[in-house]
Amino acid sequence: MDLHISLTRPGRLAADVYEQLRAAILDGRLRTGERLPATRELAERLEVSRNTVLDAYARLTAEGFLAGRTGAGTFVTALQPVQRAAAPASPLRPRPHWRALAWRPAERRGIARDFSVGAPDPALFPWDEWRRLVARQQRRRGSGRGGGGYAPPEGDPDLRAAIARHVGLSRSVRAGADDVLITSGAQQAFDLIARVLIEPNACVAVEDPGYPPAQLAFRAHGARVVPVPVDAEGLAVAALPRDAKLVYVTPSHQFPLGTPMSLARRLALLAWAERHRVAIVEDDYDSEFRFDGRPLEPLHSLDRSGRVLYVGTFSKVLLPALRLGFVVAPAPLVPALRAARALADSHGAVAPQLALRELIDDGLFARHLRRLVRTYRERRDALAGALAAHLAGAVEPVPSAAGLHAAAYFSDRRTDALAVCARAAAAGVAVEPLATYYQHRARAGIALGYGLVPARDIADGIRRLARCL
Ligand SMILES: Cc1ncc(COP(=O)(O)O)c(C=O)c1O
Repeated sequence: MDLHISLTRPGRLAADVYEQLRAAILDGRLRTGERLPATRELAERLEVSRNTVLDAYARLTAEGFLAGRTGAGTFVTALQPVQRAAAPASPLRPRPHWRALAWRPAERRGIARDFSVGAPDPALFPWDEWRRLVARQQRRRGSGRGGGGYAPPEGDPDLRAAIARHVGLSRSVRAGADDVLITSGAQQAFDLIARVLIEPNACVAVEDPGYPPAQLAFRAHGARVVPVPVDAEGLAVAALPRDAKLVYVTPSHQFPLGTPMSLARRLALLAWAERHRVAIVEDDYDSEFRFDGRPLEPLHSLDRSGRVLYVGTFSKVLLPALRLGFVVAPAPLVPALRAARALADSHGAVAPQLALRELIDDGLFARHLRRLVRTYRERRDALAGALAAHLAGAVEPVPSAAGLHAAAYFSDRRTDALAVCARAAAAGVAVEPLATYYQHRARAGIALGYGLVPARDIADGIRRLARCL
């Protein structure tokens, strides 16, 4: 690696080189075993005589910082303790609203039965196919798509077409490739939507309980986020604030309760949005996993006034680490969303987009999804069975026909869910208190993800949890 060396003292050039190399070794920027540039090469780079560099290297070698190996070069020795130079105290501070915007998923250690919400099972990911498809994309050389240059901010056109077909078939979302923008996960879709639609201090209505990262993205862009209660049919449309400019909902599988929004409520929300000229963000994050019954129509398909932005993600069906999601947006918003993506990060990595396009178009994706649905249905049923067997009377499971997690209320409303979850963690079981997701009054309960626990281990996890109540 090229170490930056500034030569500031004419006549003391060898001392400059010596001091800066020594500082880099001491604070760990140059690590033990690292090879230094050849003296001739460094001298050329710094435009100094070779003797200047030889002097500095000789002094560092005499002091034991460097060692030369004949024919191999000069290396940093293993003798020095690493002392990082203290950074100067900085007067810089983030804008005040950033102080309240941190969100970081809990880190889990020593957890044998991990019912964390929202995580899919990496063991079910088609690693071999994916490796093959990405490698094929990366083998392409030269110009053109996948050739290594800048690509369109809205995403690869063939992937957009594949996604439009996929959501058309699986979710009856009517969209063409031009309506689809690829994003870095659903989260970036929320961020871009906020940039494009939210005026400073505009009111954004969200579900309570709801999904914190989406709410925080809206707040980061200056929105006033107002929680609206959720009942058995979904968001309480009658409680929406009159000045809302955008409503964010998870109608297919309410996050975190797991209930679907009823058809009557969907229609009421669309009518309300039309009356109040409001945009709706429909977050359809995990409804590919549908276990019973027919799915209800997405808001996007019921919408007759062009107000719904439909957001999807591959974080559940594939992997969160891929950072692949998308938004189906009304035509007047597409150019601004495309520009917002270009300004944020130009575009997403190209090879994974092309690999995903092939995965979808070759039918592998559909096959993978069918397998996931079978596996997660088994786990969902195992969880329901275990709750009935080991926690009957103590919890009331919330019915859930889709997704990767379910919720359960404690029958005794005075139960301290936080304390139960802490005891469970100590017993090797991760479950999440519903209170984490509420802004107002929470009913005591827990959310249980089944993405990470094989069906055979679920009963053991719930037995351990039962002992913590
Ligand atoms: C409600 C909800 N929306 C969206 C997502 C997906 O986020 P991303 O695509 O950014 O990984 C999640 C993931 O947990 C989620 O729970």
